[in-house]
Amino acid sequence: MSLRKILIHPDPRLKKTCDPVIDIDAELRKLADDMLETMYDAPGIGLAAPQVGTLHRLFVMDISGKEGSSEPRVLFNPEITWSSDIMNVHEEGCLSIPDIYEEITRPDTVRMRFQDIDGKQIEEEFDGIGATCVQHELDHLNGRLFIDYLSAMKRGMITKKMKKLKKERARDE
Ligand code: NI
Repeated sequence: MSLRKILIHPDPRLKKTCDPVIDIDAELRKLADDMLETMYDAPGIGLAAPQVGTLHRLFVMDISGKEGSSEPRVLFNPEITWSSDIMNVHEEGCLSIPDIYEEITRPDTVRMRFQDIDGKQIEEEFDGIGATCVQHELDHLNGRLFIDYLSAMKRGMITKKMKKLKKERARDE
């Protein structure tokens, strides 16, 4: 496994719609492993393929939240098949928008259909932090970031901050 570089907003690759995965081959399994390692290293609870610059429909997550225990998950071709009318507000952050946290309103519970690492079709219900995480990560595969739910003014301020951060990081490299 190896660490991949996480793209920082703004980046055109973070605005693209990703391509469906047809065949979960060795290369994609390696990508999933690398994404998990990159996510744990960051650290974060979710990471979508475009965040490491590859435009495939997959994301990884681990919402176990317990020290010393891990529940790595890989979801290919995720789709929401049902979402609750009840909405919930959770604070969200993103590894591509470091150190910014904002409250975002989304459906409280969703059902998601996806394929696991073995290509098996699964349908699963997520609520709480899980619902927030899978909806946030699915958005990434459609070129949508959590700051797109904020006002244009707030988003503009955050984007300006990120441009500055990128410039600083480029100088340090
Ligand atoms: Ni994110």
